Amino acid sequence: MITLGIPNESRSGDQRVALTPDAMKRLSRAGIKVLLESGAGLEAGFDDRTYEGAALTSDANELWSTSDVVAMVGAPAPTDIERMKRGAVLIGMLAPLQNPEIVNACVSAGVTAMAYELVPRITRAQAVDVLSAMSSLAGYKGVLLAATHLPRQFPMMMTAAGTINASKVFIIGAGVAGLQAIATAKRLGAIVEAYDLRPSVKEQVESLGARFIEFQIEKKEGQGGYAAAQSESEQRQQREQMHNVVIGADVVITTAAVPGRPAPKLIDEDMVRGMNRGSVIVDLAAETGGNCILTEPGRIVTKHHVTIIGLTGLPATIPYHASQMLSRILTTLLGTIADKQGNLTLNFEDEVVAGMTVTHEGEIVSPRVRQALGLSTEATVTQGAAT
Ligand code: NAI
Repeated sequence: MITLGIPNESRSGDQRVALTPDAMKRLSRAGIKVLLESGAGLEAGFDDRTYEGAALTSDANELWSTSDVVAMVGAPAPTDIERMKRGAVLIGMLAPLQNPEIVNACVSAGVTAMAYELVPRITRAQAVDVLSAMSSLAGYKGVLLAATHLPRQFPMMMTAAGTINASKVFIIGAGVAGLQAIATAKRLGAIVEAYDLRPSVKEQVESLGARFIEFQIEKKEGQGGYAAAQSESEQRQQREQMHNVVIGADVVITTAAVPGRPAPKLIDEDMVRGMNRGSVIVDLAAETGGNCILTEPGRIVTKHHVTIIGLTGLPATIPYHASQMLSRILTTLLGTIADKQGNLTLNFEDEVVAGMTVTHEGEIVSPRVRQALGLSTEATVTQGAAT
């Protein structure tokens, strides 16, 4: 029977928690014991008492040193990893491509690290696709932020004081965040238009009640539901063609992204200058540099009479539901890596398990992470052995 440790992440400023009380019954049926650090769920809206059957501890050292699996939302400090048992499993958004010190700490401690960021984008992995779940929340919250900063309202309204026209919202990139933004803006009553380099999303955009705008731009359907990267000149061509649509919109939500690449620059200063006073741009791609040239990551700024919102970490501002999604994903994942008696069975033949695993038995086993760290892509520990 394994012990699943859930640390309190509020110290690091994240209000989310990796496990919510509704998962407790399922875990106890699966023979998994939960050790919860006191107050772990509090900021997301889940009191310690609601975790029925969980053991509570206020001693972080006990949690890190006795758990067989530690599940987090984000990444721990390397000093926490040092306290883990050899062979224990660490699960979370570990950002292994950006955090070599976490990866190295897991190697030294002999910990098996599984990073949600590395879940392959295949149909079977959808149930554990944390990034997509969080992107949906960001798409929703991005529209709400736009609505509250806009000096206009979204829906058309007929009142005794006359008719108010609906606002126009243009969404660039109709992937996970973009589609949720479209749905949210439609629900609020805006007139919604959208564009994506991948023509295959046109139908989905239209099924949400938005208009898909076609430009004379080379289509860029890549693999696995992603667009292929554009050249500088292709981005310039796209900016030229989108100019009039952008300046005619009251709100522009940008979500254009190609994995592993900086965000394409799709809104230039001229477009911002041309927008109506008080218009809003929400740049969801801020963390990877932003789709708008004037975005300042992590900030809300006013440039040329336009509010540009470059906030990152939006899913964490909906901690209750973000935690619930993370918890459901965690229980699904545990169902894959633990047997019915609650013993760990890491099967590296499983492409989801293999794809997510960063370190195992003292080695970096993820080819992507090895490559990012400048190591040869072959690890000595072959992913095949079960623990
Ligand atoms: P996704 O990969 O599902 O969607 C991105 C879409 O952009 C794809 O449909 C792709 O075809 C499209 N695209 C790429 N280049 C384009 C171009 N030049 N023109 C038009 N469309 C283009 O990604 P997802 O999950 O929807 O995330 C979108 C962005 O939101 C990412 O940058 C992600 O990091 C960010 N994000 C931001 C959060 C925040 O708090 N600010 C939270 C979560 C995600």
